[in-house]
Amino acid sequence: MSVLQEISSNVKNMKTLEYSLLARWTKQIKEDLRQGVKKPFKEVIDVSWGDPHRGGVKPLTFVRQVLAACLYPQLMNGEKLPVDVRQRAQKLLDGCAGWSVGSYSATGGLPEIVQRVSEFISRRDGGVQSNPENIFLCCGSQWALTRILNVLVNAEAPYPTGVLTPAPCYSTTTLSIEGLGGVVVPYYLSEERGWELQVEELHRALESCKGACHPIALYVINPGNPAGQVQSRKSMQEVIRFASEKRLFLLADEVYQGCIYGEKEFVSYKRVLSEMGPPLSDTVELASFHSASKGFMGECGLRGGYVELVNLDPAVKKYIYTLFCADSSPPVLGQIALDLMTNPPQPGDPSYLLYYQETQHIRSTVVKNVKKACEVINSLQGFSCQAVEGGAFAFPRIHLPAKAIQKAKEAGMQPDTFYCLRLLEEAGVLASPGSDYGQEEGTFHIRFCILLPHDVLGELLQRLSDFHTQFMKDFS
Ligand SMILES: Cc1ncc(COP(=O)(O)O)c(C=O)c1O
Repeated sequence: MSVLQEISSNVKNMKTLEYSLLARWTKQIKEDLRQGVKKPFKEVIDVSWGDPHRGGVKPLTFVRQVLAACLYPQLMNGEKLPVDVRQRAQKLLDGCAGWSVGSYSATGGLPEIVQRVSEFISRRDGGVQSNPENIFLCCGSQWALTRILNVLVNAEAPYPTGVLTPAPCYSTTTLSIEGLGGVVVPYYLSEERGWELQVEELHRALESCKGACHPIALYVINPGNPAGQVQSRKSMQEVIRFASEKRLFLLADEVYQGCIYGEKEFVSYKRVLSEMGPPLSDTVELASFHSASKGFMGECGLRGGYVELVNLDPAVKKYIYTLFCADSSPPVLGQIALDLMTNPPQPGDPSYLLYYQETQHIRSTVVKNVKKACEVINSLQGFSCQAVEGGAFAFPRIHLPAKAIQKAKEAGMQPDTFYCLRLLEEAGVLASPGSDYGQEEGTFHIRFCILLPHDVLGELLQRLSDFHTQFMKDFS
């Protein structure tokens, strides 16, 4: 017996990502390569995820040493590991039930780690207070976002719940909103102005959904995925005023806060809100998300994230807590990764020098990558790329020839999916199509990760350039 008929229409209506077709093809191509089938490339370069280790970035030694010692405490006997690694592992295990990372933790995370995350937030925000009671550690930040959306999106209300989301937007969030029965209300970032968020566009978006849904929340990603923009303080202040005026709950996805490459610095929404003073600082409801998946640590697979809640009605917080309880305990190794990300070795600690060298190496590689990627792409006819100020991706625009668009239509595909499919088949590069992220009608993009070793990026750009030049010849 199948439960097909029982599946909610919200789930059934979730959009299938164009990317799934590419993922299936990649599996086939990899299998062909294994079987010895001749292709113009020896392996697929997969840059479709913001997953640094997948691309070849090495894990940080300090992080892996502490994790290893926590998993296998015998490693702490003797002098094999630096003393600060052993001390940290000891301290972390002291917080675990039964002195084991294999035991469940409290619902919102191990209290000692929650406390240290809270201290990190205060330091980051120039002393703005952070209360550990408002912080929940979780199985990746996306999980926390979905739980908060669970509370915000009311599937029983006469009007569906609307969430203002950027376009382009990280596709998992739009899928989560749809899966819960909410309505995605896109506000378009201005590509010509470096993917700037303009408050007039927020007004337009809000106006556009009148009568169709009840907008309750505003989702922002800073630094951006996929567009790589970093918001200015002024823009954030405008967003906060808008959220207050329109009584919207602010969802600030700040998972790329450690990945900044240009002149602009990262400032958290919490800090900007706090510095705006009352009444805004006491009233605007905010959830801010961060993760051990991103940044130069890149421990995506360990699933460690947190959400901090600001100005929430305690009654609402109670429901959030109940929802978090339903999933018992967040992964302990993910919590440890968060602890290490928010409290890295300090000058004078035995592990500091190596930690510093490794993180600086990743940082300078990515800065070089960003520069090179933009230079190469902007030198290609029919391609343009805005400056990548932060985050993990480049999101260049492709000006596809009419013949290519027509061919894609005949194949029943979005034009940028068609481009990505050819890129995969002919050059062995797996990028993802802009149509999965939401883009202005008639514009096409591709997204690829730039958190890569420099030689991998070089190979990727070479393959992309050769392919693109031929593609434009073939279709013009
Ligand atoms: C903007 C954004 N938010 C959240 C996430 C999910 O992060 P996590 O691994 O913490 O769930 C991602 C992952 O790519 C992301 O790009």
